[in-house]
Amino acid sequence: MILLSHGQSAGAKRLPNRGASAKIKVGVRFGFSGPVLPRHILMTQPRLDVIAIYPGSFDPITSGHLDVIERGSKMFSRVIVAILQNEAKQPLFTIAERMEMLRECLGGISGVEIGTFKGLLADYAVARNASVILRGIRAISDYEYELQMAHMNRRLRPGLETVFLPAGESFSFISSRMVKEVISLGGNIEGLVPRPVEEHLRRRIGQQKSTTAD
Ligand SMILES: Nc1ncnc2c1ncn2[C@@H]1O[C@H](COP(=O)(O)OP(=O)(O)O)[C@@H](O)[C@H]1O
Ligand SMILES: [Mg+2]
Repeated sequence: MILLSHGQSAGAKRLPNRGASAKIKVGVRFGFSGPVLPRHILMTQPRLDVIAIYPGSFDPITSGHLDVIERGSKMFSRVIVAILQNEAKQPLFTIAERMEMLRECLGGISGVEIGTFKGLLADYAVARNASVILRGIRAISDYEYELQMAHMNRRLRPGLETVFLPAGESFSFISSRMVKEVISLGGNIEGLVPRPVEEHLRRRIGQQKSTTAD
């Protein structure tokens, strides 16, 4: 049985003659019935008094990352978006540039901070008083690696929990890597990254093309 998004189950029945405030039986086949849940229940609930860290490369931030940050910020009292300094990855943007882009895109979201770290995420989490690591899952292929990391981080710091958010349905195919590839081949990336990032990408790819043409 599939629970539908309005708290109505596939086997649910609307009670007769109660108009808009009608209660809907949910989970009928499990023998549970209750009122309709508000559609955006977390928006009406206080945030958990928890500091969460959302770590990543953010090279650059995409619309998928932004969606995870916005949703996370409604769940947790603070979300620290933390850029991992990892020289091995040969990034397109420097840490300072990535921070600047995050600042431009996250300014309007309350409870969000930006940080950067080197070394173990588990140590950084403790240093920032965070008890949750927030990660986004786009597909099963993400899950295997993410699961290993979650277990490892909990082993390193017992009590440090990882919370996975499923990627928003319109963003689950987006990766920073693919966005960079598409724009460098002249494709349209509108909507795949926040507007200011589109400009930064255009400029950087343009610069790269003019230096290789020299
Ligand atoms: N389009 C997306 N939607 C939701 N989550 C995403 C998306 N792209 C990446 N993520 C998640 O955001 C986090 C950071 O991603 P990324 O910047 O690629 O850093 P990393 O180098 O750790 O993979 C990861 O948990 C990744 O799975
Ligand atoms: Mg990645």
